Amino acid sequence: MLDGKNILIGITGGIAAYKICELIRMYKRSGANVRVICTPNALNFVTKLTLQNLSQNEVGIEEFSISDFKPEHISFADEADIMVIAPATANTIGKVANGICDNLLTSVVCAFRKPIIIAPAMNCGMWENIFVQNNIDKLSAAGMCIMEPEEGFLACGSNGVGRLCSLDKIYEKTVEFLKQKKYLSGKKFVITAGGTIEAIDSVRYISNYSSGKMGIALADIAFEMGADVTLITTVDTEKPYRIIRVKSAFDMKSAVEAEFDKADYIIMAAAVADYRAKNIADHKLKKTDAETFSVEFVKNPDILKGLFELKTNALSNCSGQSAIKSPIIVGFCAESENLIENAKEKISKKGCDYLIANDISRKDIGFSSDYNEVTILKKDGTMKHLPRASKREIATKIIEEIYE
Ligand code: CTP
Repeated sequence: MLDGKNILIGITGGIAAYKICELIRMYKRSGANVRVICTPNALNFVTKLTLQNLSQNEVGIEEFSISDFKPEHISFADEADIMVIAPATANTIGKVANGICDNLLTSVVCAFRKPIIIAPAMNCGMWENIFVQNNIDKLSAAGMCIMEPEEGFLACGSNGVGRLCSLDKIYEKTVEFLKQKKYLSGKKFVITAGGTIEAIDSVRYISNYSSGKMGIALADIAFEMGADVTLITTVDTEKPYRIIRVKSAFDMKSAVEAEFDKADYIIMAAAVADYRAKNIADHKLKKTDAETFSVEFVKNPDILKGLFELKTNALSNCSGQSAIKSPIIVGFCAESENLIENAKEKISKKGCDYLIANDISRKDIGFSSDYNEVTILKKDGTMKHLPRASKREIATKIIEEIYE
């Protein structure tokens, strides 16, 4: 099943380290080439000789034992198709989440640009710790796959959540990543995410509650399916693909239009502000004695509508030429009432190929939730409802639907 695949396992210093010997065997039985890196503490629980024998490869521990002309952490990162860190201790999770590279394993993760699976295992109190949870959120937001620990009797004697998830689950997830069809390879996706930020003066702005999670999930999935992804976003995020940071609707418009000619798909998942302040003060506006304060707003350009106009112009200027590239344009439609009715009106007004309608009035889906439920409208008038699921699952289905 895993013939020709290179799996890099990172073992950190937790009692569950002994279980990873069996995981190595499972990968090897499937035909994978397995390399192992250990933190120095991991060797308190499992020996280098055992890991070496099972993986049939030298085990990496020291960062500066350079075997060839490339630093060890770069050659490990280059070689592997996937990295699996199991068990991942709270200590290593904290280091990875904060970009600390103080041993070979953490340096490799920092340089790694392919899928990373992290399987934490620790005492239940540590797992529930707010800082550990914040670090887990950071890793997950950076696109790493977290295999949540399970509940049960822990090696420290307590009962709770913290036990390494089953090796079968880790194995299946690895196969899922490695077998993922890269059917978007060669396709360029431009995706926007997050709410735009419209300045009022040098210290104040207006924006909206959009978290950017849906757009980022779309970018992650397109990237995992092999696409060349550019994410244009107001959200501060680190990803293994190209990110263009913007603030205002105007910035976003220029960034998206600059990518237009190269794109096969443009997905406008951003919540673009409809208005901006007419005059932006270049200093902090002072409080006055008046009880009210007004800012005059003017309309922002409609980026999505503009893309349709660019597409129409490009197509009409090239009549007769068959090789004209015109991206598939996908819009989002955030509504708090009359979802489908408003979405139908928007798709015809904006002229996009697909419109993804979501109900932002529901608390269990939408804006900052990790879940969504949407209806995909196509320009031919047909519709497809996607029931409530994680934003990653919804993103996968949207991409499958729009991919032609
Ligand atoms: N959009 C855009 N430029 C704007 C406003 C919206 O490109 N100035 C895009 C959004 O990224 C989204 C789609 O248009 O893909 C619909 O956005 P939405 O906020 O639902 O609709 P609006 O056009 O802003 O209309 P309204 O606020 O009245 O619902």
